[in-house]
Amino acid sequence: PLQSEFAARLIAWQREHGRHDLPWQNTRDPYRIWLSEIMLQQTQVTTVIPYYTRFLERFPDVAALAAAPLDDVMALWAGLGYYSRARNLHRCSQAVVEQHGGAFPSTVDALAELPGIGRSTAAAIASFAFGARATILDGNVKRVLARVFGVEGFPGEKRIENAMWTLAESLFPKDGGDDDISAYTQGLMDLGATLCGRGRPECARCPFASDCVANVTGRQRELPAARPK
Ligand code: ADE
Repeated sequence: PLQSEFAARLIAWQREHGRHDLPWQNTRDPYRIWLSEIMLQQTQVTTVIPYYTRFLERFPDVAALAAAPLDDVMALWAGLGYYSRARNLHRCSQAVVEQHGGAFPSTVDALAELPGIGRSTAAAIASFAFGARATILDGNVKRVLARVFGVEGFPGEKRIENAMWTLAESLFPKDGGDDDISAYTQGLMDLGATLCGRGRPECARCPFASDCVANVTGRQRELPAARPK
């Protein structure tokens, strides 16, 4: 059954075909990982990269960001959009300094209590920075899971979303070290962002093509289901 092989196949695919040289990879600094994940929440990689670089030059660590005036943060964010992210970013840096002694907490639950960090972003930070065994579930991952496993229903609906969290948790690799966990989390992101896009998925290159419900039944355009009218 695919469920038991999913993680191993995804990790192998990520190592061979995934992205390895993004500026926020190859670090375990939670500040850098957090900053990248917030910027990437609603913005594409190619747009984020120059902002990310400028941000780190101006604010090399969480203490520098926390000490800066909000206006300076907003000025560096200008053009990225979704400006509540920048306000929460600043508030989060101050919470890390004031409530956690300047060190990001290492658990999903503690990270998810910080401003601007939801459950999936908390899992991304915890898995990349601390090797935590926690799954992400963002829009790209929901699309991959809906297609590969044939999950019916609109993923924005709470009942469907809960079922997807349960499915995503069941797929998480049962063993393996931090490198496997990073490759798995990055693999979920990479598959959703590259082969399994919304428009024209490249099923011929997908490691799950022979098992994928959407591919096998030709329902790539119907899965995931659209918001009901
Ligand atoms: N989208 C969200 N997080 C990402 C990451 N770490 N790498 C690439 N794209 C992403």
